Amino acid sequence: VREAPGACLEAKLRRYVAARGLKLKHLAAGVAELSAIFTGRARFDPDYMRRPGLRRAYAVYYAPLGALKLAAILSELGPVAPALGGGDVVDVGGGPGTGLWGLRLAGRRPRRYTLVERVRECLEEVRLLETLDLQAPPVPVRWARRAPPGADLALQMNVLGEPEAPPALPEARTVVVVEPALKDQTQRLMARRDAWAAAGWRIVAPCPAVARCPMRARPELWCHAEIPRAPIPLVEELGRRAGLRPEDLKFSYVVLSREGPTLAERWAGLARLVSHRHAQNGKSWGWVCGVGDALTRAELLDRGRGPAVRDFARARRGDLFAPLELDARGRVGRAVRVARMSV
Ligand SMILES: C[S@@+](CC[C@H](N)C(=O)[O-])C[C@H]1O[C@@H](n2cnc3c(N)ncnc32)[C@H](O)[C@@H]1O
Repeated sequence: VREAPGACLEAKLRRYVAARGLKLKHLAAGVAELSAIFTGRARFDPDYMRRPGLRRAYAVYYAPLGALKLAAILSELGPVAPALGGGDVVDVGGGPGTGLWGLRLAGRRPRRYTLVERVRECLEEVRLLETLDLQAPPVPVRWARRAPPGADLALQMNVLGEPEAPPALPEARTVVVVEPALKDQTQRLMARRDAWAAAGWRIVAPCPAVARCPMRARPELWCHAEIPRAPIPLVEELGRRAGLRPEDLKFSYVVLSREGPTLAERWAGLARLVSHRHAQNGKSWGWVCGVGDALTRAELLDRGRGPAVRDFARARRGDLFAPLELDARGRVGRAVRVARMSV
């Protein structure tokens, strides 16, 4: 039986802190400084990961949250790509090996993991953390300055937003790109998604509408995931000391493939709730992608709720439906939820 992700991460982080002899107050100061760098409150230094204090603070605070995000994405991809992550994996801008943690949390064990990192010192953290993961034997890990082509899976998580020359999209069978859920970074990812689709990539997730992102016609919206997570005591403690609010897992993502099946092919008539489900004035409503070419406002009257629409009445951001039937006014007549991200 696999341990719950939160407990598994907590145990690994505790072993890491002990192995490195780290003090919580130094880690919390590192988290606060990283947060200032990532939110533009401090000058961006492209070499921040070279500083051991920041690299280790990243490993203890940001990496476990990133790993949970990847595990959540893989949970959604289960029905179309159950073995994804079991082959040759490259992690572009992988930092302390966030991608490898995420694969492990999802129960995948790569044949080989290549850390593509401008800061080579990150490899030390990846190797140490691998030996501290007691769930499965360590994966062979190597470092490369640039992504070698031909991998089964390439990960590129939280790298495109770094102001210093972002890496090109790696050439691999499947590519998972993850970005922070901030409006401008997510909207840039939505534009990139359209460019990748136009260049011949298959969009595996998150999109049910394959040709062009319909949300781009609404500049006030940005397509992101937000899923509840179990607390990780050490992470919560560091966040509190660093003055950060505890948050659910928020991120934007695109999964691209050269040949693999897409979510839209797995379920005919697929639609996704791409906003919160707002409840007000006797009804609930949200924006839906996949019903026609444009983003659609789907609405449910409280008094009209029956078994056929129950899944929409309980929907949360990101839920996938097949079918989701709407009448001419956008009222939900039938909703069957087929997938929901979780960790
Ligand atoms: C915010 S961290 C993300 C780490 C990890 N992917 C995650 O999501 O937790 C960004 C990492 O990308 C690395 N990086 C930035 N630009 C890069 C590039 N062009 N090539 C390789 N690594 C890069 C940085 O050194 C840093 O370790």
